[in-house]
Amino acid sequence: MNVKCDVYRFDPDSDAQGRYETYVLDAEPTETILDILRRIYRDFQPELSFRFACGVVKCGECAVMVNNTPCLACERVIEPELKIDPLPGLPLIKDLVIDRRQAFERILKLLPGVSTMLQIRDRWESVDPDATDRYVQLTRCFECLMCQSACPVFADMPEKFVGPLGILWLAQMSLDPKTDAAVWQYAESALDSCTRCGICAGVCPCSEKILDLALDTLEKG
Ligand code: FES
Repeated sequence: MNVKCDVYRFDPDSDAQGRYETYVLDAEPTETILDILRRIYRDFQPELSFRFACGVVKCGECAVMVNNTPCLACERVIEPELKIDPLPGLPLIKDLVIDRRQAFERILKLLPGVSTMLQIRDRWESVDPDATDRYVQLTRCFECLMCQSACPVFADMPEKFVGPLGILWLAQMSLDPKTDAAVWQYAESALDSCTRCGICAGVCPCSEKILDLALDTLEKG
């Protein structure tokens, strides 16, 4: 099948603003967006920047917008007409590559004093089976940032609201037996801002309802 693909391009060193480049390819209907991006890179545009790692829906690195919907490029199958953009609302490095580190740091900036608690991933231990089960489920998130990008509250106030990923991190921290009281203060503020619109859960590629579970964990305290 013929695929017409408009790909967002932006190089901060040479472009004042973004633009689209169009590529037409012959493709198999079973190919994914990542397959197409790799072919464009190989056959047409070796300077095109996009990110991926596992290629099998495990790492979340390949998240992009396709026809205005967030998705994992290695999961979503192609259509005859494609418009591929970077995730909106997050710092952009080049073309389709967002700055994941800055996106994470933006959340941590709103949680002063608890960043070292992220090390609970290494030291967490509990005798509570329900907490253990919740923690295991909450850590299945692979931090693709699609929820963060899709959240309308985060889009309105990225400097004030930690967003769905921040809520997930707080829920993980809240289950740490050695958690700090500050986590609950941050959680209260985050829960106040969250409108429970469910958009984040709707775009989450994880099979478990991780974001609902995070809210539930914090709401139950
Ligand atoms: S490349 Fe890892 S999830 Fe797509």
